Amino acid sequence: MVTNIAIDGPAGAGKSTIAKRVAKELSFIYVDTGAMYRAMALYLLRNHIRPEDSASMESACQSADVSIIHKNGEQQVLLNGENVTGQLRTEEVGNMASVSSANPKVREKLMQLQQDLARTNSVVMDGRDIGTKVLPDAGVKIYLTASARTRALRRYQELVKQGVSCDLDEIERDIILRDERDMKREISPLCQADDAVLVDSSDLGIDEVVEKIMAVYRARS
Ligand code: C5P
Repeated sequence: MVTNIAIDGPAGAGKSTIAKRVAKELSFIYVDTGAMYRAMALYLLRNHIRPEDSASMESACQSADVSIIHKNGEQQVLLNGENVTGQLRTEEVGNMASVSSANPKVREKLMQLQQDLARTNSVVMDGRDIGTKVLPDAGVKIYLTASARTRALRRYQELVKQGVSCDLDEIERDIILRDERDMKREISPLCQADDAVLVDSSDLGIDEVVEKIMAVYRARS
């Protein structure tokens, strides 16, 4: 039998780190839906397509083939057969994904892919609309959040570690803007599903968050 765990929440709440850990503990497949939106964004950037050009967006949805494979437990994203996983985590791609993900055709296309994966595999899937739209019948739904400042600080520390010079206040402003776009868009806005368990990771370590989610899973199964 297939069991699905949906983890939604704003950017930088730690969804992917946590979801990966939970998937490993349960031997489920981890599905990062943000990476799919980022792959579409990369396609648009490469082809100079503007998100407000709806005709070009529609044809992009037909000509861009996004698929995923798993290699040593890590999700790899293929864009028309090319492995683009290493090119998805830039600010440019993230900002484009945040805008282009509001397009209904993009959402329809990627939701299909996400639902197909969850139909045949037990998955831990993270995103913005997994518990509300993609997998409304998921056995476990988590809404993982943290304060904007905490999320900005985590991103800042990550960038500093990589030797990238950056400004904490600017990162926080960017995060707040991205939250607003995700929460206020018309289709599939980011929100907590009625039956999702709220986990605020502002003052929790990774192990504590993983344990909280595992406890919810055990209580439901
Ligand atoms: O999670 P990540 O930052 O990689 O997602 C990139 C963008 O894709 C988000 O800012 C959000 O706008 C969009 N997204 C979405 N629905 C999802 C996952 C991501 O709209 N299920």
